[in-house]
Amino acid sequence: MQIASSPVWCNVVNLSLFDEGDQQKEREPGDGGERSLDCRPVSSGCREAAHRTEVAAVEQVVVVGVAAQRAMPVIDHTRLEANGRLNPARKIALGQFMTPTVIADFMASLFSPRSGTVRLLDAGAGVGSLTDAFIKRWGGRDVCVTAYEIDPTMLGYLRQTLGAHGNSAEAKIVERDFIQDAVYRIKLGNREHFTHAILNPPYKKINSGSEHRALLRAVGLETVNLYAAFLGLAIELMEEGGELIAIIPRSFCNGLYYKPFREWIFQKTSVEHIHLFHSRTSAFIDDEVLQENIIIKLVRGKKQGRVTISTASDARLSDLQTHEYGFSEIVNDADSQKFIHVPTSPSHTGAGGVPLAARSLDEIGLEVSTGPIVDFRLKEFLREQPESGSVPLLYPTHFAGGYLEWPRQSKKLNAIINNAETQKWLYPNGWYTVARRFSSKEERRRIMAHVVDPGAFTTNAVGFENHLNVFHSGKKGIAKNVAHGLAAFLNSTAVDDYFRRFSGHTQVNATDLRLLRYPELVELEALGQWARKQDRLTEELIDQKIEAMSGKRK
Ligand SMILES: C[S@@+](CC[C@H](N)C(=O)[O-])C[C@H]1O[C@@H](n2cnc3c(N)ncnc32)[C@H](O)[C@@H]1O
Repeated sequence: MQIASSPVWCNVVNLSLFDEGDQQKEREPGDGGERSLDCRPVSSGCREAAHRTEVAAVEQVVVVGVAAQRAMPVIDHTRLEANGRLNPARKIALGQFMTPTVIADFMASLFSPRSGTVRLLDAGAGVGSLTDAFIKRWGGRDVCVTAYEIDPTMLGYLRQTLGAHGNSAEAKIVERDFIQDAVYRIKLGNREHFTHAILNPPYKKINSGSEHRALLRAVGLETVNLYAAFLGLAIELMEEGGELIAIIPRSFCNGLYYKPFREWIFQKTSVEHIHLFHSRTSAFIDDEVLQENIIIKLVRGKKQGRVTISTASDARLSDLQTHEYGFSEIVNDADSQKFIHVPTSPSHTGAGGVPLAARSLDEIGLEVSTGPIVDFRLKEFLREQPESGSVPLLYPTHFAGGYLEWPRQSKKLNAIINNAETQKWLYPNGWYTVARRFSSKEERRRIMAHVVDPGAFTTNAVGFENHLNVFHSGKKGIAKNVAHGLAAFLNSTAVDDYFRRFSGHTQVNATDLRLLRYPELVELEALGQWARKQDRLTEELIDQKIEAMSGKRK
C-alpha cells in the first residue's frame, strides 16, 4: 500500500504503571519504543491530556509534520488489506470486524457540533477507520486522539492511517489491553476525561473466571461480552457532556445477563440516537457477521430526553429514515428488566401498541416454560416410533405444516418411554399452545405458535422437547379455546413486530414470552372460538379479528 506521507514518531514513553520513579526514564531506540527528537511541539490542550495519562505502559505520541496527501477511501483499501493479513483464529479471538467507511462516516456525522479542545477515544482502533472518519468530520480543528490496539498487524496500519492526517490531529497509540488500562486508570483516579469516543469494540464472550471479568468487577461493571465492557469503561472515561458513538451487537437490548449493563447506561448517560440495520450482514458486508448490530449515541451525564431512531436496509444507508420517540416508548417504565425497544417505524408505537395486549401471563393464570426434554440427556429412553410404555415426544418438526402431525415419518424421534426416570419431564395430556424457540434468519416470523390437541394421542402424558416453549397452567393443560386463542394472538403481525423491537435474536425464549402482554382470558377464549371456525387461519385474518376486538374494547 502506498502511503504518501511519512510520519515522525516522537516522545515514546514506556512507563511503569505503579512505579512513579520509573516514569521519568526514557527508552532507547530498539528497546521496545522508538524515540525521535525531530518532533513538532504538541499543542497545549493535548499536552495537558498527555501529561494526565502518564501511567500507560507503552504509549506512542505521534505528531505528524506532513499534511495528508492521499485521497479517501484509501482507508477502505487499508481495511481490506489488513483483513486479508489477519490470522483467522486471532481474528475471532480479538473480534476483528472492521467498520466500512460509509458506516464510519455516518457514525462520525452523529456527533454534535462543539467548540474547544477535542479529546477522542478510539478503543480497539483496528486500522483506524473510525478515528479517520472522525478527523475528517472535524475538519482542520485540533483533535487529540487516544487509540488503543493490541494486535501487531493492526498497529502498523493504524500508525499509517493516523500519520496521514498531518496537521489536523495528534495521536497517542496505546498498545495495551484497553480493559486493563481503563480499569487501572479508573482505580488510580487517573482518567483522561475524553470529550468524544467512537467505538467498534471487539465482540467476544467474557468467561466468568477470566481476568477481564475480575477487572470489570473491580469497577462495578458486570457484563458478559467484551463489547459491553469496552462501552461501559469508555462511558466511565468521558467528561460530563462527552459524547460516545458505538457500533455494537443488539444483544444487550434484551438479554437478561445484560441488565446490569443497561442500568449502567441509563444511570450514567442519556440515550440520544439508535440506528438499526435491518439486515444482519449489512453493517459488516465484508465479513460473515451474523449478529444484528446497532449504532448507539450516548451523552455522559445528560438528562434523558427524546430518542432518535434511524433505520436503513442496506450498508450504504441509501434509504435512511429517521423518527423521534419519547423515552418511555423505548424503555417501558414498568419493565423491571429495562429492555430497550427499537421501533422500526412510527406505526410501531414503542414499547406498547400491540392490540389487546394488557395483562401479564401471571395475571391471566398462565405460564410458559421451555420444553423440559433435552433429548441427548435422555437418549436411552427415546424411540423413533411409539411403542408400548411410550408417550408422544413433540419437536418443532411435528408442527412443520402449521398444525400438529404426530407421529411423523421422518428421521426425527416420535416417542419417549414413560418411566420413573422420565416421568418428571412429562406433562399430562391436554390442550397446550407451543411456540418454536428457533427460526432461521430467512424466516419471515420469529414467533410461530401452534395448538396441541390431546385428541391426537391415546396416552395420558406427553413430552415437549427443548426446542419448544410450552404455555400451560401449573404444569397442566389449558382450556381448548384459550389454547387456540393464544396461538392466534401469538401469530399476529403485531406480536411479531413487537418482539423484533426488543430482540435482534432469531431465538424466542420463555423469558421473552413472559415479558409480553396478553389479552384478557375471556378475549383469548373468544379469539380461540373464532379461530376454530376458520377454514384457513391466515395472519391477515388474525390481524383483522384482533383489530376488530380491540376496537370494541375501546
Ligand atoms: C471490531 S474490531 C474494530 C476495529 C476498528 N475500531 C474498526 O471499527 O474498524 C476491534 C479491534 O479491537 C482490538 N482489540 C481486541 N481486544 C482488545 C483489547 N483488549 N484491547 C485493545 N484492543 C483490542 C482488535 O484487535 C480489533 O482491531
